Amino acid sequence: MSNVAKLELEGKVYELPIVVGTEGEKAIDVSALRSATGHITSDDGYGNTGSCNSAITFIDGEKGILRYRGIPIEELAEQSTFVEAAYLLIYGHLPNSDEMKRFSDLLTKNENIHEDMKHHFEGFPANAHPMAILSAMINASSCFYPGLMGPANKARFDIHAARLISQVRTIAAFSYRKSHGLPTIYPKRQYKYTANFLHMMFSDIYEDYELKPEVVKALDLIFLLHADHEQNCSTSTVRMVASSQANMFASAAAGVCALWGPLHGGANQAVIEMLGQIHRSGDDGSRFIQAAKDKNSGQRLMGFGHRVYKNYDPRARIIKKACDELLNSMHVTDPLLDIAKRLEEAALKESYFIERKLYPNVDFYSGIIMRAIGIPTEMFTVIFAIGRMPGWIANFKEIMDDPKARIYRPRQVYVGPVGQRYTPIAQRK
Ligand code: ACO
Repeated sequence: MSNVAKLELEGKVYELPIVVGTEGEKAIDVSALRSATGHITSDDGYGNTGSCNSAITFIDGEKGILRYRGIPIEELAEQSTFVEAAYLLIYGHLPNSDEMKRFSDLLTKNENIHEDMKHHFEGFPANAHPMAILSAMINASSCFYPGLMGPANKARFDIHAARLISQVRTIAAFSYRKSHGLPTIYPKRQYKYTANFLHMMFSDIYEDYELKPEVVKALDLIFLLHADHEQNCSTSTVRMVASSQANMFASAAAGVCALWGPLHGGANQAVIEMLGQIHRSGDDGSRFIQAAKDKNSGQRLMGFGHRVYKNYDPRARIIKKACDELLNSMHVTDPLLDIAKRLEEAALKESYFIERKLYPNVDFYSGIIMRAIGIPTEMFTVIFAIGRMPGWIANFKEIMDDPKARIYRPRQVYVGPVGQRYTPIAQRK
């Protein structure tokens, strides 16, 4: 197999190196194209652009494969935990017992936010979206850790990473309590990561929330399944900000903003809103499917489709099973789950969805689990952000550790006006 691609341009032939990944993925290296030819490549929405080499997560969208550091997501979902998967993503290997203990201890030691941070929560209106609060508070946290700025950042990476993973959960729970006018509940040292989050969300001052193992397990699975997903919109945003050597907290806060949109992490909230709307209108789903096929309706089947997966999203398969198991064990029936299953069945038979290879993604069933747990809809994307934090940190670390890292700076093809002159305001019409 040739290790160069040949490009013929204006009568000249250029050789471009081929880069091959460890899973056999091939890319044409165009980094020297402009200096050699005067041309750039154009790829609106980056659908065909490899923005980096990364050793963290592998996806084969055609085959529906997802692996963290080479380990299939199905094995991790079955046997691992969110905290262990976080270590795997960030440090590149499964922790041994000592490493696991040290990492867990660091998470526990750093679970409380700085007490002065609590005043910041007072400034948000009661109806503020928790993603706005989360992003603002992660950024505000960086003010409390001056070591984040400058070269000490690298030496203290482990502590900063543990702080961010641990405190994002505390900030999320505090913002929920604040928006519901409830007193904040502090973390408890004896609880593990996910149990502690549920405790901070749902305990009250006089009575602790009853931690049911099946609920803790289901939420831990949601965190684990969201922990990384290679160069998606929010992770690329984190890398973009990190490439300017901004600190870890600033980079992660930018990731939260990118995740918020309904075409990305905000889809889990949009799915439940869509299912609720279908339920209230008395539709069995068929009217909505017709509308989703019509480009003029402005409606999409939320939780369906993916830029990379052109096959069933493996996370959706795992979540669908977990959803059935949790609802059964809690003896809960949810009409929205029935609608979701009907929608999926109907959509997968429709030529519109088949031809475009649109399958359920991770967001299609995760909201139903969160509803059953009692997490309000506006917190769904926050849950996604808590889960995604290790992936963002792993990508931040990859940039920080790369001696050849450069600032990210894409180019563009300018299509605006040319040859314009400045007109003084008095002469403008
Ligand atoms: N419902 C109806 N039609 C759809 C849907 C959908 N959910 N998704 C894509 N299509 C159609 C598009 O209209 C387009 O049709 P066309 O070729 O006739 O113009 C075609 O399928 C391709 O769609 P694109 O928007 O070009 O696909 P893209 O890769 O840009 O977008 C995305 C992927 C954003 C996920 C899209 O499928 C979507 O909007 N889905 C719904 C929102 C959602 O669930 N997002 C969560 C993604 S997963 C995550 O972030 C965790």
